[in-house]
Amino acid sequence: MDTFVIQGGRRLAGRTRVNGSKNAALPLLAAALLTDEPVTLRDVPDLADIKNMHRLLAELGCHRVNEQAGPSGVQTFQVADSSNCHARYEVVRTMRASVCVLGPLLAKRGSARVSMPGGCAIGDRPVDIHLRGLTALGAQFTLTSGDIIATTPRGGLKGATIFLGGPNGSTVLGTANVMSAACLAKGTTVIESAACEPEIVDLARLLMSMGAKISGAGSPRVTIEGVDRLHEADHRVIADRIEAGTFLMAAAITNGDITIENCPMDALLSLNDRLAAIGVDVQTLPGKAGAEVDPMRATVRVTCGRVLKPVEVTTQPHPGFPTDLQAQLMALLCLADGNSVITERIFPERFLHVAELSRMGAKLFRQGPTVIVSGVRNLVGAPVMASDLRASACLVMAGLAAEGTTIINRVYHLDRGYERMEDRLRMLGASIERVDDKDLPGASGGGE
Ligand code: EPU
Repeated sequence: MDTFVIQGGRRLAGRTRVNGSKNAALPLLAAALLTDEPVTLRDVPDLADIKNMHRLLAELGCHRVNEQAGPSGVQTFQVADSSNCHARYEVVRTMRASVCVLGPLLAKRGSARVSMPGGCAIGDRPVDIHLRGLTALGAQFTLTSGDIIATTPRGGLKGATIFLGGPNGSTVLGTANVMSAACLAKGTTVIESAACEPEIVDLARLLMSMGAKISGAGSPRVTIEGVDRLHEADHRVIADRIEAGTFLMAAAITNGDITIENCPMDALLSLNDRLAAIGVDVQTLPGKAGAEVDPMRATVRVTCGRVLKPVEVTTQPHPGFPTDLQAQLMALLCLADGNSVITERIFPERFLHVAELSRMGAKLFRQGPTVIVSGVRNLVGAPVMASDLRASACLVMAGLAAEGTTIINRVYHLDRGYERMEDRLRMLGASIERVDDKDLPGASGGGE
């Protein structure tokens, strides 16, 4: 199994570029099921989760028709055969986001069988709100052998007014499912308490370029006028705000100075606010020859004072502080001068990184969904275990800043969401190597 070996204590310096967004690309790929015509996506990241989605689409008869991936990640998909509507457990269990084929399959094919996604390292992760929304459009559901069996009534889905709020806010993939399905429903759908995440805005942009009639995406009320069919489209995926945020904080934790291209600052205002309070400076650089800066694709320079100030942070639905950056922020605050408070309101159990950071000398006290982070002068390298995607990123950051050697096991979690992370950090001056744990001296992945 792949492992990272990091020699900490090197400042990051240099230039890097943010890739296309994983969490935008997954529902965009699923939207290719809504038409028989080709859908081209640009800037698709090369990640394990994306490959899983390719596999799922292929099983559903939707194939990649341009075989050359190329460095720009241009991918064209087209449905060749609509007969199979089954997203099997073997695929769904490797990637929970597979559930976002449910809405497109129901709307276009009139039936779907999607394995019920189980929980994962960050919590229970139910899909009840997805089903509630699709039921309001007329879909019917039963559960058989762990699979959700869904059918549309004769005459297809019908527009409705739907409230999609839940105990922890709205649902991102639930909004994606209902919005995608409503595009081909008869009449008008109003989604109230829709997720406002930039990935939903990006999905709406693709659907609109396929001929859908959508207004309000990015606000809590989205209105969709159903159309009879959708057609081909060519769309560039937004930059990954979570990858961008991870690089911003990796620069800060190493007291570095890096320039980041393709940085979606407009989607990172809450992070930028907290970074400013911590003492991290993020400057948007002017466009070339005075060209206007696209705030979703800016070039920014991040630098940091020697002393990090403690802050309070609560994760919230967008535009609040993203849960997907909570673990990375915790790593940074471990080195702040005083006590910080982090409260997790989206996935209240998303704290597997707490025990691992503690192994590196962090002083953390958790009570329910809140962690008090008492800043320490140094983190110390240790063998640690990656438990989920963002927790892995947090451990990489901690390893970059720690004294001595950090060995991170199970980096396949990281590979789900960050493309060649180690190569990109090495280009910025980090000492980080990917090794097979069998090759580590003395142990089966433990290492010292
Ligand atoms: N929820 C329900 N019922 C539902 C759906 C969600 O109660 O039917 C709850 C969840 O348990 C959670 C909250 O609602 O407490 C929000 O969950 P949401 O449905 O928005 O999460 P998701 O759509 O399954 C996406 C991202 C996650 C990210 C969350 C929150 C993708 C592929 N995944 O998941 O990304 O954390 O939104 O922003 O877009 C990651 O990239 O590391 C990751 C986990």
